[in-house]
Amino acid sequence: MTRGGRHLVLVGLMGAGKTAVGARCAERLGRPFIDTDALVETATGTSVAELFASVGESAFRDLERRAVEDACSSPEAAVIACGGGAVLDPGSRRRIAAAGSVVWLRAAPARLAARVGDGSERPLLRLGTPTATLKRLAEARAPAYGAVADVVIDTDDLSVDGVADAVLDAYEVGEPG
Ligand code: S3P
Repeated sequence: MTRGGRHLVLVGLMGAGKTAVGARCAERLGRPFIDTDALVETATGTSVAELFASVGESAFRDLERRAVEDACSSPEAAVIACGGGAVLDPGSRRRIAAAGSVVWLRAAPARLAARVGDGSERPLLRLGTPTATLKRLAEARAPAYGAVADVVIDTDDLSVDGVADAVLDAYEVGEPG
């Protein structure tokens, strides 16, 4: 499933497990793990939730675009977890698709909502119920995730290790010998 680049990139909605699964995959592959939200937070010294509140979503998206660029241009082959909305930017979509093997972690909105808990760290989930918001985002973003993904994994009934197994199976099967 490798499409040119060398990274393993995880995309999907909030609660899909990108960070937990990405960290597990990186550990098992012996590679660095890069989380675009964490890059933004390190660069600004501010949490994502605080950035939404202080500078707004559009300024956050600019920072996120730079974080995606930095992550994808990392010289060492890495495992990269992209924030759920990173695929909204067309330039980031191109970078993500060219960066390596891209896995879309998918789950039903109610399952995602259960995983994000009260959503207090996710500003987009503060309006309405998390399940309804995640359902709306899933519908709106499916084309963008689909455009970058080489593989889709439905994670509903899988543990973090189970998802990591599925990701690495797909990744290693597709890796050139
Ligand atoms: C967002 C997802 C979050 C974070 C921000 C916006 C989104 O990342 O970047 O709250 O637009 O889906 P996770 O997907 O890692 O929770």
